[in-house]
Amino acid sequence: MTMAEPANPDVVIIGGGLVGLATAWRTARRGLSVTLCDPAPGAHASFAAAGMLTPVTELHYGEEPLLELNLASARRYPEFVTELREASGGADPGYRECGTLAVAFDPDDRAVLLELHAFQRSLDLEAEWLTGSEARKLEPMLAPGIRGGLLVEGDHQVDNRMLLAALFAALAREPRLAIVRTKVAELTVAGGRATGVVLDDGGRIAAGQVVLSAGCWSGQVRGIPPEALPPVRPVKGQILRLAVPDVYKPLLTHTVRGVVRSNHAYLVPRAHGELVLGATTEEQDYDTTVTAGGVYELLRDARALVPGITELPLVETRAALRPGSPDNAPLIGPTAVPGLLVATGHYRHGVLLTPATADAMAEILATGEVPDAVKPFDPRRFRK
Ligand code: GLY
Repeated sequence: MTMAEPANPDVVIIGGGLVGLATAWRTARRGLSVTLCDPAPGAHASFAAAGMLTPVTELHYGEEPLLELNLASARRYPEFVTELREASGGADPGYRECGTLAVAFDPDDRAVLLELHAFQRSLDLEAEWLTGSEARKLEPMLAPGIRGGLLVEGDHQVDNRMLLAALFAALAREPRLAIVRTKVAELTVAGGRATGVVLDDGGRIAAGQVVLSAGCWSGQVRGIPPEALPPVRPVKGQILRLAVPDVYKPLLTHTVRGVVRSNHAYLVPRAHGELVLGATTEEQDYDTTVTAGGVYELLRDARALVPGITELPLVETRAALRPGSPDNAPLIGPTAVPGLLVATGHYRHGVLLTPATADAMAEILATGEVPDAVKPFDPRRFRK
């Protein structure tokens, strides 16, 4: 990883989750010098995530503008990971075209998925309804009582930890890029314009533009003028990882999402054998305790869908904080303060939206022009 003394780069990025790291990479490739500040880059929600790239199966009413961006980012993934593999000197970013099967546990859950299917069809999205036995033919480890489901062949996954590693490798090869593993204490503003940051250790970095991409902590940097404060909040998710021993491989070949007595659950099978089970959705402020109740509910619902998971070693329990915004959509672009930009609030779609966000941010930073695709996600939209 590149470590450098804080110089005076063109751009300072506050926060090294996937969005910050990818923005740094794309921006440096546009010829700008970039310093990214984070005491523990890649350690929070980006590391915990399941990495589902599922714009069609995670569709919600009222989120049609977001759907467009989600689909665009999903389409961009194959090229993005190819470029990243090259830029990193051959690191595998863990992209996997596995398709997604969303299944129903009981008749009420079936009604939920049928409604989702009707909504998907009304938007011309590709999704095929399967009976329970058709679903089990695709995934024989599904519970015998499964009431049918939706096959979305275009919804895939990326191993977010491999993606992080590939990004770190690419950044380490980028001469215009420095990572400073120190917390930003304060944004500096002069004459109404963002001018840089002060670090926790007292160091100062002056920059032409500053990007705030610190996830749910993005509103907590001192010195942000009130009119530019991003309205993000933490939404806790507990998530588990099981190991699939060779004798059980492949336990699943698709990502399996499920509605289980109205709860939503997912099981994401990695190529190397890990099975990711998620996730709770809790409004618990900045708490990241893994609770007995959270683990119980996740295992209960996953077992209802795939009973065989009870045989697998439970190798990791974790809780992390999604950056939620008031309309569940991201904040991407300039703020009310010249020189201060935001890329946060990605809520449930941070991994999915990494390529689209990073490309858009690099374009804005390099040219000042906001691409049409991210105009609906203007950070200033919440101002009265
Ligand atoms: N997108 C999955 C989650 O947020 O749990």
